[in-house]
Amino acid sequence: MKHILVVMVIFFAADQLSAQQWKWPDQPKNLTALPASTAGKDLQRVMFGFTGSLGVRCTYCHVGEEGKDFKEFDFVSDAKPAKNKARLMIKMVKNINTQFLTNLHDDNSPAIQVNCQTCHRGNALPILLEDQLKKTFDKSGIDSTIKQYRALREQFYGGFTYNFKEGSLLRLADKISEDSTKMPAAIEIIKLNIEMYPSFAFSYTHLASYFEDLGNKQGAIENYQKALSLNPKNEMIKRQLDKLQSK
Ligand code: HEC
Ligand code: HEC
Repeated sequence: MKHILVVMVIFFAADQLSAQQWKWPDQPKNLTALPASTAGKDLQRVMFGFTGSLGVRCTYCHVGEEGKDFKEFDFVSDAKPAKNKARLMIKMVKNINTQFLTNLHDDNSPAIQVNCQTCHRGNALPILLEDQLKKTFDKSGIDSTIKQYRALREQFYGGFTYNFKEGSLLRLADKISEDSTKMPAAIEIIKLNIEMYPSFAFSYTHLASYFEDLGNKQGAIENYQKALSLNPKNEMIKRQLDKLQSK
């Protein structure tokens, strides 16, 4: 009996404690984008959805210090710009789903719904790998770009935030090569792709076409030959090589 009493007292104390701890509000004070009825568990589901979709923590949008108890956060405040951006996004997603995606199918079957993850894929700024790297290249040059590729690959490979398949660096190289003075950097990027994917023939066809543009016929021929050795049945590569050799 004594034991039971002790246990009950402890439970009571624990209950008192949790009553003072932070709880998801049953009556949120400042909702202007979500339905006003979003509270408690529903609000929790939505907010966890945001952090997961964007790969961020609560503090990305809310005033508070990382690691501190939620009690000390000010979730009602709109001081962080990302919170209002998220509101715009909530409205945008709602419009996409309720205005643009309705009546998409002839048989009136419902369309696939868009959500934060559809675009963000674990990234606060939903940007393709090649576009992210191109921004870095324009700002800080080739060494920083290669460094960033390796770091992003280390962190995100196998996830859904960036596409590390064989084509991404080729698309980056093509974007860089649009400025003919940047050809050496474009070639560096292709070499990086060859390091990552040694048996991907199209790295070599890209190299070959850059060498062609640079007037380096021998370099172009060697790279088409390499591409052909990796992909012997490809008629396009054969034709390119024949054309070049008969020049
Ligand atoms: C991407 C931005 C974003 C992230 C990340 C985010 N929130 Fe929010 N949160 C919002 C927005 C926007 C609102 C207001 C929605 C509205 O106006 O309808 C909100 C509202 C809230 C509210 C209601 C406040 C009130 O009373 O009005 C709480 C509580 C809350 N968030 C908690 C959290 C917690 C806890 C996390 C982390 C697990 C989190 N949020 C992560 C954007 C975010
Ligand atoms: C149709 C694609 C799309 C969807 C769906 C989408 N977003 Fe975005 N979001 C973007 C783009 C693109 C940007 C970057 C715009 C820019 O800054 O140039 C962005 C930016 C943001 C930002 C600002 C990030 C920053 O640091 O500047 C937040 C926060 C955000 N989105 C939250 C959300 C939330 C929450 C949802 C789901 C309710 C969502 N987004 C759904 C495309 C989308």
